[in-house]
Amino acid sequence: MTILLPGDAMVALVGIAGSGKSTFAQAHFAPTEILSSDEFRGQSASEDAFALLHAALRLRLRRGRLTVVDATNVEEWGRRQLLDIAGQERRAAVAIVLDLPVEVCLERLGGRGARPVPPHAVRRQHRELHGSLPTLGAEGFRTVYVIESAAEADAARIERAPRGSAGHNAMSRRNRARRDDARSSNRHRNA
Ligand code: UTP
Ligand code: MG
Repeated sequence: MTILLPGDAMVALVGIAGSGKSTFAQAHFAPTEILSSDEFRGQSASEDAFALLHAALRLRLRRGRLTVVDATNVEEWGRRQLLDIAGQERRAAVAIVLDLPVEVCLERLGGRGARPVPPHAVRRQHRELHGSLPTLGAEGFRTVYVIESAAEADAARIERAPRGSAGHNAMSRRNRARRDDARSSNRHRNA
């Protein structure tokens, strides 16, 4: 599977605990591009973690920096917050869903002592994910990629649309002009 991403996209990983979101993110993206809910939880009170993640996401998108949100994102209200930020910063939102069998995820989690997630919570996440899958596009994701096995996750290739192109969907002339203005004033900064 080739995953095509606009160079300034908000990329939401979606998947239950143990589905391989962090592994996938680390394989395909630079560390600075990944905002992980676990890392924010590690450095702040749990109730502040998502506020910090959202603030970092907004500032990165404002500068046109592709940003990957590594969190379960199986609940609609959580995704809504990410989509609102992407929309306000006029960036395309792309979902990459890791929809692996729940038994595979539970087995993987069994071997991980660091942050145990009870099996009933993992199964609840799985029901939430499957309830959401048919309508992810309608929520506002421009493209939804669904990966269903570890082999597919390993074989996935990420292709970034060149900066200055709108990806494979047309962007309105007005948004393109706004974005290009933002770009030219930031051209000398690093990604
Ligand atoms: P991850 O830790 O990547 O899952 O993989 P996750 O989706 O980010 O989980 P949460 O939501 O943060 O809890 C879970 C386990 O599965 C292994 C990883 O090494 C890790 O121990 N794994 C992941 C594989 O064995 N194969 C894979 O293709 C991906
Ligand atoms: Mg993880």
